[in-house]
Amino acid sequence: MRRLILPVTCLLVMSLYSCEKFVIYPPEIPEGISYSESIQPIFDGKCVTCHGGNRDPDLRPENSYDALINGGFVNTDDPESSELYQKLRGTHDSRASEEDKLLILKWITEGALNN
Ligand code: HEC
Repeated sequence: MRRLILPVTCLLVMSLYSCEKFVIYPPEIPEGISYSESIQPIFDGKCVTCHGGNRDPDLRPENSYDALINGGFVNTDDPESSELYQKLRGTHDSRASEEDKLLILKWITEGALNN
C-alpha cells in the first residue's frame, strides 16, 4: 500500500495541474476605457447591421454617443441597470462577447465619457 502513495500523489498533482488550463478566467478589463477606441468598434462590428439608423439606438459612429446618452440607454448612477448593458445580458446576450459586455459596463462606470 505504501508503495502506491508516491505514484498516486504524483498522478493527483499532475491531473490537478493539467486542469488548470481549462479554468476560464474572466477577461481582464483595463482602467480608462476609450469610447472611440474600445466601445465604438464593438458597435461597428456587431450592431450597426441592425442599428444603422432605422432602429434605436442608432449605433453608427457619428450618432452612437448622442443616441445612447440622449436616448437614456446609459445610467452612470447605477451602471448595471443601464438599458444598453441589460439588453446585452438579456435578449441580446449572444450578440456580444463577455469581454464586450464588461468593457461597456466599465465604460459606463467610468462616467460614459465621449473620449
Ligand atoms: C440582428 C439584428 C440586431 C443586432 C445585430 C443588434 N440588435 Fe439591438 N435590437 C434589435 C431589435 C430587433 C431590437 C428591438 C427588440 C428588442 O428590444 O430586442 C433591438 C433593441 C436594442 C436595444 C433596446 C432599444 C430600445 O429602444 O429599447 C438596445 C440598447 C440594443 N438593441 C443594442 C444593441 C447592441 C449594443 C448591439 C450590438 C452588440 C445590438 N443591439 C445588435 C436587433 C439587433
